[in-house]
Amino acid sequence: MTRIKELVRNRYAQVAGNPCCSPEATFKLDLRAEAIGYFREELKGVPESAIELASGCGDPTASAELKEGESVLDLGSGGGIDAFIAARKVREKGRVIGVDMTPEMVKRARINAEKMGFRNIEFMLGDIEDLPIEDESVDVIISNCVINLSQDKSRVFEEAYRVLKHGGRIVISDIVSRGELPTSIREDVKAWVECVAGALPAEEYLKMIRDAGFTDLEVLSENTACCWPGASDTYSVKVRARKT
Ligand SMILES: C[S@@+](CC[C@H](N)C(=O)[O-])C[C@H]1O[C@@H](n2cnc3c(N)ncnc32)[C@H](O)[C@@H]1O
Repeated sequence: MTRIKELVRNRYAQVAGNPCCSPEATFKLDLRAEAIGYFREELKGVPESAIELASGCGDPTASAELKEGESVLDLGSGGGIDAFIAARKVREKGRVIGVDMTPEMVKRARINAEKMGFRNIEFMLGDIEDLPIEDESVDVIISNCVINLSQDKSRVFEEAYRVLKHGGRIVISDIVSRGELPTSIREDVKAWVECVAGALPAEEYLKMIRDAGFTDLEVLSENTACCWPGASDTYSVKVRARKT
């Protein structure tokens, strides 16, 4: 495991153990969720502690057009907020898998699923650069504010492409940058774990998605108000693409 990956995992282990002390903790839950980009309506039935742990930068599930019976994979599921929203949309006939490399997050998400009686969700410990998922086995992939944390983003998109069925779609909310970030930020490990230093220029990020094989790439929205104080060169985008 690389040093950055270890630091990212340590950081999210801390957040999982102590959601009260995450940077957004002073917000009330519903305001916090709205600030990230969720509609209040969507959060019905989502465990409160999953909302408390939410660390995303958008609402990819809202643009995934999920249908009853579909299978969904959430890359970097954290406390599970998007996986829970997806599980309600695909209903009992559907299936949602969340993959996250931080054991403490996976544990919290599993406890929430059990407590709330979700039977169509599974949370797996795993690395999105090497997914523990079979080829062409899921209908939809979602991911919320995770891929920026990877040092090998091309590999993440290739893995996503591998496990998605033909005709499937991917919807991602993530942080990108306006142009190249200065070296002082790129090399700042604290900025990396806070979803700043790993942000790539938007064009480079989109090219990686296309290079992995995805087509019909659309930028659905951009949000400049999403991000951390001091990270004014970064913003969040929501993108959707298909595997034909
Ligand atoms: C900013 S949080 C977002 C969590 C969740 N998607 C949400 O919206 O609340 C980033 C999550 O990605 C996970 N993560 C980061 N890099 C990962 C990797 N290479 N493989 C699997 N999970 C990863 C972290 O453990 C953490 O839970």
